Amino acid sequence: MRQQQHMPRTVRLERMDCLDFLRSLADESVDIIVTDPAYSGMNRHLQFGHGRIVGHYASKSDPAEQKWFQEFHDDPATYRHFLTECKRVLRNNRHLYIMFDSYSLLTLGPIVREVFDVKNLITWDKIAIGMGHYFRRRHEYVLFATKGQRKLSRRDIPDVWRFRRIHRAAYPTQKPVEVFAAMLCGSVEPDFVVCDPFVGSGSAAIAALKRGCSFVGADVSEQAIALTRERTEVYQATGHDPLQRQSAIENEGDAAFLDIPDQDNQAVGAQSAS
Ligand SMILES: C[S@@+](CC[C@H](N)C(=O)[O-])C[C@H]1O[C@@H](n2cnc3c(N)ncnc32)[C@H](O)[C@@H]1O
Repeated sequence: MRQQQHMPRTVRLERMDCLDFLRSLADESVDIIVTDPAYSGMNRHLQFGHGRIVGHYASKSDPAEQKWFQEFHDDPATYRHFLTECKRVLRNNRHLYIMFDSYSLLTLGPIVREVFDVKNLITWDKIAIGMGHYFRRRHEYVLFATKGQRKLSRRDIPDVWRFRRIHRAAYPTQKPVEVFAAMLCGSVEPDFVVCDPFVGSGSAAIAALKRGCSFVGADVSEQAIALTRERTEVYQATGHDPLQRQSAIENEGDAAFLDIPDQDNQAVGAQSAS
């Protein structure tokens, strides 16, 4: 049987603010946005801990790098601007997935409806309990929306995803690749361009490569970009993900819908740019 020919998968990473990055992209130039923004609202309003999600000091010389990462200023006007830029760069008849904690969902979730056609709210059950003052957090949300009419290509994907959170992650807010793989599995075709303007450790980039897609992403943190560049290069060269060696799937039944193709040792074209 003749094998289908695919374009080489490329990875483009920029150390940039999400808005500057999105403004640098052409209209309708990406096929899906999957992202996990660094919300500041929950910290500001609920004053968890010391009022910060992350206080891991990495560099004494560069004040911009003193925290592992900065929080995105997610006031409603900035968030609306961010979403408008997401809509501009996304092709028509395509999907958007945005992660939310409970607080940000209440404050910013409604703004997504002003810009996109919101279709569902998915719960990511992290299996293991985390921190939290009133109730300890065990879940996050993924809001699913469309630009135009595109349907999911699958009808077997549940709206609760059970993937174990990453313990002792290389990056403080590193999410399991499976969370992004679940976002992509009913929404992409090979050769689609996946975009994440808050790339962190690059879990979305690995999920994109596993599905035969290209990736464009940005982060304000130099460490995030360096980690993601190295991670994607290793993955493209070896087929192994150096930052997540263990599956986050606890129960095969929970993830039967997640048919990540096994790309181990498959040669794919790499091209990283800063
Ligand atoms: C929640 S983390 C993303 C984690 C990522 N999903 C992963 O699995 O590793 C959010 C990221 O947004 C970045 N960030 C914060 N403010 C930003 C901004 N204005 N523009 C772009 N990135 C920003 C942070 O440096 C951080 O890496």
